[in-house]
Amino acid sequence: MTRAVCPGSYDPVTNGHLDIIGRAAKLFDEVVVAVLINKNKKTLFSVEERTDMLAEVTAQWPNVRIDSWHGLLVDYCREHDIKAIVKGLRAVSDYDYELQMAQMNHQLSGVDTLFMPTNPIYSYLASSLVKDVATYGGDVSTLLPQTIERRLMLRLAERR
Ligand code: PNS
Repeated sequence: MTRAVCPGSYDPVTNGHLDIIGRAAKLFDEVVVAVLINKNKKTLFSVEERTDMLAEVTAQWPNVRIDSWHGLLVDYCREHDIKAIVKGLRAVSDYDYELQMAQMNHQLSGVDTLFMPTNPIYSYLASSLVKDVATYGGDVSTLLPQTIERRLMLRLAERR
């Protein structure tokens, strides 16, 4: 069985993430979308909320499951017998850091990283930008699934 992981913060999941997850789901028998917990990163949604949202919007792919992990990604891969990490690349600017992480992860564990070019219609898309735009009343309806947009608006309203 071929198994890959799509790691990230997913705070919250965007259409850009879903593009990569859906394409990975066609290439591997199983894709695990792993929410990586970073205690130093302030997030808008809790880990449970992020995994719930991911489960909801990936339900269309039967071979995709959601998980979360606190620690090194390579340790998650080792524990779950995952040989490939799939990462979306939006632009050349993503490449330097992603290459560094890919090489470090390979050196640590032998796990390979496969870079998937993002669909150009999402090349500018990032969860942080979506949150920023939505905070100031901008229209993010084409950037997120409707259900995620609704949850984002509710959370931002709670924070006001
Ligand atoms: O969505 P993000 O925040 O860009 O995702 C970054 C993420 C979570 C994939 C990356 O920070 C990561 O892999 N963190 C897990 C901890 C780890 O393994 N660090 C060493 C990377 S070489």
